Amino acid sequence: KGEREENETERGLRVLDKGFLNTAVIRSQITYIDGEAGILRYRGIPIEQLAVNSSYLECAYLLIYGNLPTRPHFNTFKAEVMHHSIMHHDSEELFASFRYDSHPMAILTSAFAALGSYYAEANPSLAGQGLYTRGTPESLAIMDKQIYRLLGKATTMAAMAYRIRQGRAFVTPPVGLSYTGSFLYQMDHLGEEGYKPNPILEKALDVLFLLHADHELNASCTTVLQTGSSLVDPYSAVAAGCASLYGPLHGGANEAVIRMLISIGPPDNVPRFLEQVKKKERVLSGFGHRVYKTSDPRSFIVRKTADEVFALTGTDPLLQTAMRLHDEAMKDDYFVSRKLAPNVDFWSGLIYRAMGFPMDFFPVLFAVPRVAGWLAHWRQMMLQEGGVKIWRPRQIYVGPEKRDFVPIEERK
Ligand code: ACO
Repeated sequence: KGEREENETERGLRVLDKGFLNTAVIRSQITYIDGEAGILRYRGIPIEQLAVNSSYLECAYLLIYGNLPTRPHFNTFKAEVMHHSIMHHDSEELFASFRYDSHPMAILTSAFAALGSYYAEANPSLAGQGLYTRGTPESLAIMDKQIYRLLGKATTMAAMAYRIRQGRAFVTPPVGLSYTGSFLYQMDHLGEEGYKPNPILEKALDVLFLLHADHELNASCTTVLQTGSSLVDPYSAVAAGCASLYGPLHGGANEAVIRMLISIGPPDNVPRFLEQVKKKERVLSGFGHRVYKTSDPRSFIVRKTADEVFALTGTDPLLQTAMRLHDEAMKDDYFVSRKLAPNVDFWSGLIYRAMGFPMDFFPVLFAVPRVAGWLAHWRQMMLQEGGVKIWRPRQIYVGPEKRDFVPIEERK
């Protein structure tokens, strides 16, 4: 379903495909999704196997470089990423310049863009246009360095955005913790000796990060590639992707789910809410997906993670409303006939809330792990055979025919 229109032009057939329902723009070896069967694989490996056996950082390597790392390769990769998690001292002023009530996604998007200004070596206009497309050992090494920096600093910048809004001092990334452990440390550390994040919450966050690491050409990844197609530096491309993810139809959905559950209130109000959805007065956030026409496979893993976290933190009254909403929608013909089922964000917001994160921080917890996916696709496009072609879609013009300019005094 979708609006399609074809126009014969001087250069051939032009197809209008609003929202890219049927347009492929690249050949990719990274992530496979079968939306009808509910299958998701990173580089061929089922997400269910990765969620149980792997870690976020290992999956980042898998997505970016194509295979699971050997132990020495993983150790080097982890050491590089963690080494690059430290921010330049000057950047603290950037974070301090935001209002206390700024949305953290606005801060993070700005921070990604600003980060590029610290590394002239990463800028193809300064370093040479073929910087990322050449594929020589030197240019690949420069590319890798920017990848380590972006992965490493994503958590640090997110933690800085978190703390600045609370008026708390920044925390230097610790040594010896996992990727998600370091992130939790930087957010929660109160200065006490020997502080360690709770291992259950650290593991839960790692699983959520792993599940959010990539999802092929969603809006934000496409934005990264569209921006990257002009051969801009990866910091600018990632900032553009981050801005795209900010929207409530994409990365903002987990925040929207909690706002929706709060507005519904107790479970008994669910039927009335669903009637409003069916009249198209409200949206059932966390349901529906452009690609999945059955349950999002990630949603089952997230449900299990939610149980582990709730066992530690205690349940949330909103969970009862969420379960009733889920159960009623899944047997309601409106949702069944439209193949609308829960996506990963239906449950992830409840976990983040149980972990104590403020609601407007939820999209940040989606953006940080997605940096791996964005970079994997960006690197693949830069190194693809035949080079990079700038992405320049066409339109079907439906405006006025040629007409003459009218001086301002004569206009009606
Ligand atoms: N609530 C109510 N109705 C919905 C929903 C929803 N969440 N999603 C789709 N529909 C309806 C549409 O109104 C449409 O109805 P119609 O046939 O009567 O016109 C029908 O279902 C088909 O939907 P599409 O418009 O084809 O869905 P599309 O692929 O364009 O949009 C999207 C997908 C944006 C995810 C949509 O389902 C949505 O808005 N969901 C809520 C937001 C959300 O959870 N986003 C997170 C996505 S996953 C992620 O980013 C990790």
